[in-house]
Amino acid sequence: MLKVGFVGWRGMVGSVLMQRMRQENDFADIEPQFFTTSQAGGAAPNVGKASPALKDAKNIDVLKQMEVIVTCQGGDYTSEVFPQLRAAGWNGHWIDAASTLRMEDDAVIILDPVNMHVIKDALANGGNNWIGGNCTVSLMLMALNGLFKADLVEWATSMTYQAASGAGAQNMRELITQMGVVNASVADLLADPASAILDIDKQVADTIRSEALPQSNFGVPLAGSLIPWIDKDLGNGQSKEEWKGGVETNKILGRSANPIVIDGLCVRIGAMRCHSQALTLKLRKDVPLDEINQMLAEANPWAKVIPNEREVSMRELTPAAITGTLTTPVGRLRKLAMGGEYLSAFTVGDQLLWGAAEPLRRMLRILVE
Ligand code: HSE
Repeated sequence: MLKVGFVGWRGMVGSVLMQRMRQENDFADIEPQFFTTSQAGGAAPNVGKASPALKDAKNIDVLKQMEVIVTCQGGDYTSEVFPQLRAAGWNGHWIDAASTLRMEDDAVIILDPVNMHVIKDALANGGNNWIGGNCTVSLMLMALNGLFKADLVEWATSMTYQAASGAGAQNMRELITQMGVVNASVADLLADPASAILDIDKQVADTIRSEALPQSNFGVPLAGSLIPWIDKDLGNGQSKEEWKGGVETNKILGRSANPIVIDGLCVRIGAMRCHSQALTLKLRKDVPLDEINQMLAEANPWAKVIPNEREVSMRELTPAAITGTLTTPVGRLRKLAMGGEYLSAFTVGDQLLWGAAEPLRRMLRILVE
């Protein structure tokens, strides 16, 4: 059985990974060793299988004994430990949720329902660096897999509605705290059916703008508002999150040399852990909508086509419906007024599952089998 070291299993992505691995009985086929940056010698977590006491996540000699290391510890850990491990001659498989190594030539961005061919080619050529993709990109590709598979996309723009979880666990807490503070500021007025809506609105606006609104993580209000910028400012008008859309999509698809142009605007909204995206796609040819629906539905078991109708879109194509599930629905499919080659689409997906943990556990599975 493969000796697999886990680092960063206690954080948010790590916890979701542990949950999914237990659900799928993944631990039955590996020999797990859990690492820690603070509690070496402590008891390993209960994953339904006994494993040795926790080991020091910075101890290169111990890490070197692993055949596979799976890390959700974050980019700083990767930057510090990964080069030391490779310099020490370690040839094991490194599976990483952090973005640090994503664009390296010797790293594959893993999303096997979409790019198993890229993963298999790299494996055959001795590849051993497997990096999870940006959540927005992975979720878009899961939902629109059928169109990319058929090489129908000439270009695409994605306008995103990204959840608080993409910014971190503390940000999720802050969003809910902000919601509570806003609600509390008008609780009396809300309880009084005779109160004036404009009084409520004024109080809400005052609360959202006040220094008293907790915002140390986001830096600005998110509840009752939105944030039209995600990640760093690249200095050319584009955010780093927007840049990733193009480069990572093409790297995942194994076509960086012949890229599809993808660009758009990334926006944070007050959802908990589902990223949604509104897309405009320019197709290479005018394909009938029923054929498009079929391609999308058949591309993988998780991409579910939601008919472009009001009721079902409102019920099934939302963060509320999808959160905590592996389904990556795609709906609002229609030809736009610009012509038969212009398609609209709307996708939703849980950014902690397909956007983070799921590709990692599936990569481990590929190595085990
Ligand atoms: N960068 C993403 C976000 C999450 O901020 O929503 C991780 O891919």
